[in-house]
Amino acid sequence: MATERILLTGATGYVGGTFLDRFVKSEDPTIKALIIDALTRTDEVEQKLKEAYGNRINTIRWAGLTDLEFIEKTAANYDIVVNVGSGFIADGAKAFVKGLARRVKPKAPAPWILHISGCTNLGDKPITGVAHPGRVFDDANSRATYDWCKEEDERTPYPQRTTEIGVLTLADELGVNAVSLNAPAIFGEGTGLFNTQGIIVPVLMRYVVMKGYGFKLNDTANFDWVHVEDLADAYILLVKLILERYDRGIGHIPSGKDGIIHPSVGRVLHTEILERCLDVCFADGVLPREDTPREKRIVQKGLQEIADEVAAGMLDLAESGWAGNKAMTGTVLPRLGWKPRHLEEAWAKDFHDELKALKENRRGYVFDSCVGTKA
Ligand SMILES: NC(=O)c1ccc[n+]([C@@H]2O[C@H](COP(=O)([O-])OP(=O)(O)OC[C@H]3O[C@@H](n4cnc5c(N)ncnc54)[C@H](OP(=O)(O)O)[C@@H]3O)[C@@H](O)[C@H]2O)c1
Repeated sequence: MATERILLTGATGYVGGTFLDRFVKSEDPTIKALIIDALTRTDEVEQKLKEAYGNRINTIRWAGLTDLEFIEKTAANYDIVVNVGSGFIADGAKAFVKGLARRVKPKAPAPWILHISGCTNLGDKPITGVAHPGRVFDDANSRATYDWCKEEDERTPYPQRTTEIGVLTLADELGVNAVSLNAPAIFGEGTGLFNTQGIIVPVLMRYVVMKGYGFKLNDTANFDWVHVEDLADAYILLVKLILERYDRGIGHIPSGKDGIIHPSVGRVLHTEILERCLDVCFADGVLPREDTPREKRIVQKGLQEIADEVAAGMLDLAESGWAGNKAMTGTVLPRLGWKPRHLEEAWAKDFHDELKALKENRRGYVFDSCVGTKA
């Protein structure tokens, strides 16, 4: 029986919940032998996790990502931290790295943090700043991505990017291994016990159903995409590599300033997402309504209005998300053995699933939790 334990953040989240569920249900012998320690914030969550996952899970109560002393002390007990909760609180994420650094010893493999971040870090600023049409960040040259993100964050700080750069920079300084999966739009129903909905497609579908039309800020905004189960499996793969390889993944999995990698499977324009939403709504008959356009329409909107209506009031998130070019190419994870199973067909089906979920009242907004501002 393995004695190693994994520390997890985000067990109640879309990504973290799916990771945990797939981890516990994995038939892989290495994974089956592990216990997950999940950082949790309420009795209800702890009870539900224990009921579902029994002795495969141990819960540890924390106040959250602002409890820096506790995070540091706790992380010092682990060889692997899977940090897939909110990626927007830099000091909290860096405290995990500081805790792991207490375990760094000469001639012993250093511990790992497997972090999550997102593609809005990479967005250009076609409305308020500089546009970079045609730019694609390629994780075969992830140092260039790190360098651009660092410079951009010095010009215009953005919490999720500040966090990603902060984790990777500090990890290099302190001798901790750190990889960040800079995720694109994540789609599909999560398999966790709590939040099971993504953001991009549900939010855009809801907008279309409520307004009767789609919106755009420009014609160049784009999103890469990945299914939530495939993303969860990428983290499981990384855990396996670290535990099974003679080198503990060091030198094999990119780390630190070279550690931004992209779990990307497909790419679309923002307007194509809206077209698909409109297509399923018109085919289903929920549109048009009496008070909405008779034909499928994508309406040009202003940044402030869209920030207020579909980006929790955050102008930077709205611009990089709904206007930005955020194209990414990911070749590192496939090289490490990642085989995403949800391809074009699953992406197309997701729009039908999302409309159904919305009609069944299974969808709400989740920006608060994702950006770490939920009380
Ligand atoms: N969803 C996407 O499409 C997407 C795309 C690209 C990147 N990402 C990245 O992935 C991260 C996770 O996304 P998600 O969709 O899984 O988010 P989510 O479903 O909203 O879950 C957020 C998780 O973070 C935790 N959390 C929030 N604020 C916290 C705080 N102050 N202290 C401790 N924990 C806190 C929540 O735990 P509690 O229940 O304890 O509040 C929850 O487990 C995002 O922050 C983002 O960086 C997401």
